[in-house]
Amino acid sequence: MGYNVGLLGLGTVGTGTAKIILDAVGRHPLLETVSISRVGVRNLDKARDVKFADGVLTDDLDAIVADPSIDIVVELIGGVDTALKYILAAIAHGKHVVTANKAVISRHGDEIFDAANAKGVYVMLEAAVAGGIPVLAPLKQALGVNRINRITGIINGTTNYILTRMKDEGADFAAVLADAQHLGYAEADPTADVDGLDAADKIAILASLAFGGRIQLDDVSCEGIRKISAADIAYAKNLGFTIRLLAIACGHRPDSGAMPDEIELRVHPTLLPAHHPLATVEGVNNAVLVEADPLGEVMLYGPGAGEGATASAVVSDIVSIVAALGTETAQQASADNPLLRWDRDSYIRVAPMADLVSRFYVRILTQDRPSVIGHIGMTFGQHGISLESVVQIDVHDRGAEIVAITHEVREGEFRKALDELLTLDEVSDVPSVLHVW
Ligand SMILES: NC(=O)c1ccc[n+]([C@@H]2O[C@H](COP(=O)([O-])OP(=O)(O)OC[C@H]3O[C@@H](n4cnc5c(N)ncnc54)[C@H](OP(=O)(O)O)[C@@H]3O)[C@@H](O)[C@H]2O)c1
Repeated sequence: MGYNVGLLGLGTVGTGTAKIILDAVGRHPLLETVSISRVGVRNLDKARDVKFADGVLTDDLDAIVADPSIDIVVELIGGVDTALKYILAAIAHGKHVVTANKAVISRHGDEIFDAANAKGVYVMLEAAVAGGIPVLAPLKQALGVNRINRITGIINGTTNYILTRMKDEGADFAAVLADAQHLGYAEADPTADVDGLDAADKIAILASLAFGGRIQLDDVSCEGIRKISAADIAYAKNLGFTIRLLAIACGHRPDSGAMPDEIELRVHPTLLPAHHPLATVEGVNNAVLVEADPLGEVMLYGPGAGEGATASAVVSDIVSIVAALGTETAQQASADNPLLRWDRDSYIRVAPMADLVSRFYVRILTQDRPSVIGHIGMTFGQHGISLESVVQIDVHDRGAEIVAITHEVREGEFRKALDELLTLDEVSDVPSVLHVW
């Protein structure tokens, strides 16, 4: 039996996907049953890396999603509104869907999965999180027999590239960002990456899978890397830490082991001890660390983007669907394989950041007076916050720079102490506050 794929988009990922499908030799044997019957693009005159028979390439995407001969529609056009329109239309026509689009899933996943489950079709999205690294399939399958307690990811390659170069070169954020844009590692509009929004989309998807419920994207607390300075990177390094943009989902389960009532869900730069496995993830690479009971810690690491890597994840989803369909008779093709389906009914409650308990790194600009450190320590102490280390790093004509790392404290209490710190005569500014692992 053969299966027809309709590809929407022939850009970076679409081209990589077509290359794998058109060159199936030596790969999974099920790929031999897959053909690309239509490919939808915007501009028919553009030069392409892959060649198709006449009539395969079209700019009529509506015709692809309605084509009765197509079994699986692969959405690789990106964006939100147009992608959503074609995904829903494909589902309405009874097609299975594969997408690499985290933005559309994190915003409209509920609507998409409700429609897919009602219609009895699969929607697969391995490539939407961590590019080529298999993460969603392991969470649904091999890791899914564990109780997942925490997922911590470096799931945005652009910010990891920028932070790696800032550390290696002692360079400032703006200079590295400009160079990353020049080299094609960052978009002309870098907002989604550097402000943590892309990582927020992805951790929302991971949390939904790991903790068995729906996530409101607005519930993900999100802080990017724009405010990280070369000074913070250098001070962190001297103190034995590496700064990484982490996306974290974790929940405390009741004794019964049932799903947690509430989870923490956040994206923010974090000082990681230099020996932590995620601190060793450099450049554009991604990694996802899963803490699972009874398995323990598993780190999935590799290329989080790129033509071939992302296409590998897309095609793995196509093969999973083909494998599932091959075990069903035509009459009962109802997409009910529990290892592939996505069933989430109720929303997961997300704890406010004020309740988070964490250590903090804080950089304080002060006047150069002997009493300053004492006053800072006293202000924190009045809020029950003890300091793990305090270092007066730099003294210059504008005053002194003090870097402190706290012991664990509730974030709400820590923020109150910071507000009070800023009222002290000797304190002129608190330019950096970062979470510490
Ligand atoms: N690039 C990566 O490494 C990567 C990694 C993980 C996930 N993703 C996700 O994969 C998806 C695709 O990314 P990409 O990098 O491959 O994008 P891309 O290179 O910009 O390609 C987009 C493709 O979609 C077509 N297209 C866009 N809007 C269209 C419309 N309205 N009608 C018809 N065709 C349209 C374009 O047609 P033309 O060719 O005619 O312009 C192009 O072929 C996105 O959701 C992205 O977030 C990408």
